[in-house]
Amino acid sequence: MQPANAAGSYDMTSQLPGATGTPLWLLAELTYRCPLHCVFCYNPLDFARHEKELTTAQWFDVMRQARALGAAQLGFSGGEPLVREDLEELIGEAHRLGYYTNLITSGIGLTEARIARMKDLGLDHIQLSFQDSTREMNDFLSSTRTFELKQRVAKLIRQYDYPMVLNVVLHRHNLDHVGRIIEMAVEMDVDYLELANTQYYGWALVNRAQLMPTREQLQRAEETVNAYRKKLGNRLRILFVVPDYFEDRPKACMNGWGSVFLAVAADGTALPCHAARSLPGMDFPNVTTQSIAGIWRHSDAFQRYRGSDWMKEPCKSCPDKKKDFGGCRCQAYALTGDAANADPVCGKSGHHNQIGKIVFDAHATQTRQKDMNVQPLVFRSKANSLGFA
Ligand code: FES
Repeated sequence: MQPANAAGSYDMTSQLPGATGTPLWLLAELTYRCPLHCVFCYNPLDFARHEKELTTAQWFDVMRQARALGAAQLGFSGGEPLVREDLEELIGEAHRLGYYTNLITSGIGLTEARIARMKDLGLDHIQLSFQDSTREMNDFLSSTRTFELKQRVAKLIRQYDYPMVLNVVLHRHNLDHVGRIIEMAVEMDVDYLELANTQYYGWALVNRAQLMPTREQLQRAEETVNAYRKKLGNRLRILFVVPDYFEDRPKACMNGWGSVFLAVAADGTALPCHAARSLPGMDFPNVTTQSIAGIWRHSDAFQRYRGSDWMKEPCKSCPDKKKDFGGCRCQAYALTGDAANADPVCGKSGHHNQIGKIVFDAHATQTRQKDMNVQPLVFRSKANSLGFA
């Protein structure tokens, strides 16, 4: 699955200020297994090559070490974390260690017995994802029949007294439904709705020509969101994350590389961001052979883009370099072939015109799709993943 914004929606700094240099946010990507086949999944394209998973004892050890280093928030993600039968055990241990725990889930596999147990064990927060407000689009985009099931899970989350946090990834195929999505959130008694426009990593990058909205679609959606914000006031908080391809300043991805974020993938690979596996020439350390402290403080992978010494122009002399850290390394690599370049979303980047072309082409494919040779959507699946391995 894709967290709302593969790069910036975890509001780490506002909750945990002033502690740069500590992996405050630990993301445990427990498994790449997932019952859904989302076309915007941020998992690596070749996830089928990484089937090995850490054991319960190894995750306990990771959580203990990261906590000793200062980690305070722990996200259980995947794939779908509920496919791990030891999830409850991991939650219990995380709570015992003093983490604030968050389950990031599609809801598939969350029964009443499991949520009751998780509540007892101290799970703090659940973020549930939907693909759309309509059964047709929800089920089409995930290639499963899961719409009603997710609605039942939403009721369970409420019943067990969790704040209702709903995440919907937006793109060309559902942006025009944003009003209906908000209405659905109101009907479900959601407290916090995260409307996150797709970030183009992993499977979303492959499907970019099909997912990229037009500027007009985005403007209409933003107007709708603003109108609902006025109408609903505090009844529903709505976060609307604009896709950075439509901006001319880059996002402060991960709050800076190796600054506050540590992801541990299912097989124990430690990553400075979810998408880092896409970068070539990196030797990512593994928690089964190195300590978390050693990885965080000394590994080349975490040092490579930490701070600003690695920067080239225009980032090197940019007054905003400590604000946006030159943007996103994975996007810089994906669009320019060099992860040390400025993120081309930035108007100062020599590659910025590429972004304009991608948006223009997306508009062209949308308005003239029938006449054009556009690659059909590629669904996340093991068979498709093996094709990328
Ligand atoms: Fe931005 Fe990797 S996703 S640095």
